[in-house]
Amino acid sequence: MGIQKNKYNYLFKNMIPNSIEGIKIYGSKDQYIKPQYYDDVTNLENRIWSELYQKLEFLLDQYASKEYLLGLRTLPIPNNMFPNFKLISPLIENATGWTLLSVAGFLDEDLFFEINKQRRFPVTDIIRKSPRFDEKYSGVNILNKKGYTPEPDIFHDIQGHIPFLMNNKYADFMYEIGVLGFEIIKDERKLGKDLIYHNLKRLQNFAWWTYEYGLLDNKGLTDSFRRVDNDIKFEVYGSGIISSYDEVKNIIECSKGLSNRSKFLKYDIEEVILTCFDYSHIQDRYYIIDSMESLYSSFRENIELFYFEG
Ligand SMILES: [Fe+2]
Repeated sequence: MGIQKNKYNYLFKNMIPNSIEGIKIYGSKDQYIKPQYYDDVTNLENRIWSELYQKLEFLLDQYASKEYLLGLRTLPIPNNMFPNFKLISPLIENATGWTLLSVAGFLDEDLFFEINKQRRFPVTDIIRKSPRFDEKYSGVNILNKKGYTPEPDIFHDIQGHIPFLMNNKYADFMYEIGVLGFEIIKDERKLGKDLIYHNLKRLQNFAWWTYEYGLLDNKGLTDSFRRVDNDIKFEVYGSGIISSYDEVKNIIECSKGLSNRSKFLKYDIEEVILTCFDYSHIQDRYYIIDSMESLYSSFRENIELFYFEG
């Protein structure tokens, strides 16, 4: 969702025009389901996957949250080839009732929340920097001014998000976000277009600073799950961090005092939902939650914040 003109925008901090120009956005009327043809995966695509995965593998073992590591260990997400959706989906379904839905690309909010509400997680089967990715966008400029595109890819979707869906509490939390998003759009409270947009943006900010870019206080209780002890104050649970080597490195460096590029702030739901973000850069801040439980309860106890009435 880019930033549109809206009379409630003054309530937000950091209004940054995140361009999604050129990106194909699929809605419910489009042919948005696109099965993965696993036999067509090329050696080059497997190699791109392997490089990304293996660069991050040991860092994540040391710094990712327990929920992530446990999920990853029980799923067939290989470190040297593309994951096969058909092998992963039934295992998540058995554990938490979620399934993978292979889609053609970026989905609009209505469709995205509707799919989440059915406990289905949309995943794409193409990887950045591959001929298939380039082909999809040949002749179209999908980069924003800073050279970034929010087009989803298989590495972020599968390696970043899916392991968490093996955890029942997390899976319920994601389902509740889907339900809330769907209800905001349905507008049973008759708030009108401006407020629907405004409340959806609140929810998008919440998602961004929590399950995409959130950190967890490291209480020193998870080292038994790791090959090497976590030597920083935080554990990573945001999927956007987990799928980005640069973002993980930045957190380690800032936490060790080797860089001051980003700051670490205590999670506060009212601040988080009103703080917009820039997806073209390493994040300038990360919000630290006390525990996954405290995140879930803060969301449930503050649902009304997503029904701002103007
Ligand atoms: Fe994501």
